[in-house]
Amino acid sequence: MRGAAQYVKAKTTIVPEVGVVLGSGLGAFADSLIHSVRIPYSEIPGMPISTAIGHAGELVIGTLGADGHGTVEVAVMSGRFHLYEGYSAREVTAGIRLFRGLGLKRVVLTNAAGGIGVNLSQGSLVLISDHINLQAANPLVGPNDPALGPRFPDMTEAYSYRLRSLAHEAAEELGIPLPEGIYAAVLGPNYETPAEIRYLRAIGADLVGMSTVPEVIAANHMGMEVLGISCVTNLAAGLSGDKLDQQEVLETGHRISGTLLKLLSALLPRVP
Ligand code: HPA
Repeated sequence: MRGAAQYVKAKTTIVPEVGVVLGSGLGAFADSLIHSVRIPYSEIPGMPISTAIGHAGELVIGTLGADGHGTVEVAVMSGRFHLYEGYSAREVTAGIRLFRGLGLKRVVLTNAAGGIGVNLSQGSLVLISDHINLQAANPLVGPNDPALGPRFPDMTEAYSYRLRSLAHEAAEELGIPLPEGIYAAVLGPNYETPAEIRYLRAIGADLVGMSTVPEVIAANHMGMEVLGISCVTNLAAGLSGDKLDQQEVLETGHRISGTLLKLLSALLPRVP
């Protein structure tokens, strides 16, 4: 990813301090940045091309801070890569490797997720406290590059306590409820069966989604501090009586993205 980082650095004088990855339908945050530079993934050497619906496929570097919470320079991946698109686990983490190449040590990953936990409703934001990887894939498979991180990285605090307490602080100030939950990552692309959701609940999952975990593994491997925020775009299969539909997932994502934007605007200036 050295070529990619060099390419991006040549495009802007902004030195980002925090990386953000935006999930399905959550692109509004990137539009709120000022002095921003947008670089399509297709221009960046070594980046896969994003094909998922609801994902813009560009890196946006800019300044957050039009609303009085302080400013911070951020690099935002508007559009991420998923295993279900056919990319390898290594390919879906290209953006996280690029973030590290840009010198970032902190990353906030957002996603759309199905809600399994009893107290979660459509439209809730949930702070990810831990995850269960059911994707049968891992970006660290293959020869390890010791310059990036250890062969067997620790995952005891995969989601940083420090960043989680900053997120709770910001949410409390804004009056945004922010429960914590465990995210189960599945391969997709089909939504789960009701039996699978009962299984996920039994093993302790509160949320289910098709992304994020490979990026969290790669970021932890490189010693980055990670925060994960899920937007509950729907109740998981069999919990609401309705069938699941991507249009609804995207619409709910768009509806929550305003609240997510408020939370990130208050949180990110505290992160560096
Ligand atoms: N399951 C898996 N992934 C998802 C869901 C879901 O219900 N909603 C949004 N992403």
